[in-house]
Amino acid sequence: MKIAVYPGSFDPCTNGHLDIITRAARVFDKLIVAVLVNSHKTPAFTIEERMEFLRRVTRNISNIEIDSFTGLLADYTMQKNADVIIKGLRAVSDFEYEFQMALTNTKLNPSVETLFMTTSTANMYLSSSVVREVATYNGDLSGMVPDEIRDDIYKKIRRG
Ligand code: PNS
Repeated sequence: MKIAVYPGSFDPCTNGHLDIITRAARVFDKLIVAVLVNSHKTPAFTIEERMEFLRRVTRNISNIEIDSFTGLLADYTMQKNADVIIKGLRAVSDFEYEFQMALTNTKLNPSVETLFMTTSTANMYLSSSVVREVATYNGDLSGMVPDEIRDDIYKKIRRG
């Protein structure tokens, strides 16, 4: 059984994340979406909100687990017996940082491979921070986030 971990902040999850999740779940027996509980950053959404959004938008995918982790991703992949870390690449500018992370994670857990999936062209510009910025000023989020979570994103971060 091949297990993949797709890690991230998912603050909040976007259509770009959902695209990678859907495609990765087709390739692996089990996909664990692992939400980072980050003690250095204050996220816009709580860990419970971020995980609930992910559960809601992936309810039709059977081989998926939504989980959270703290500390090093390499340690988490060891605990979970994961074979692969999935990362989405949007642009060349993502590459340098992701390359460094992949090498670090392999150094710390030599039994895990990092596989990069290219984002769909429709989602190339998307990021959680773009979504938060648009929502703050009541901009149109359609096409950026799954419909089921759009209103909850506005409710939490829209100004005024
Ligand atoms: O969605 P993000 O914020 O780009 O995700 C980044 C994430 C969670 C994948 C990355 O920050 C991470 O793996 N953090 C855990 C700490 C760690 O293992 N860092 C790499 C070695 S220094």
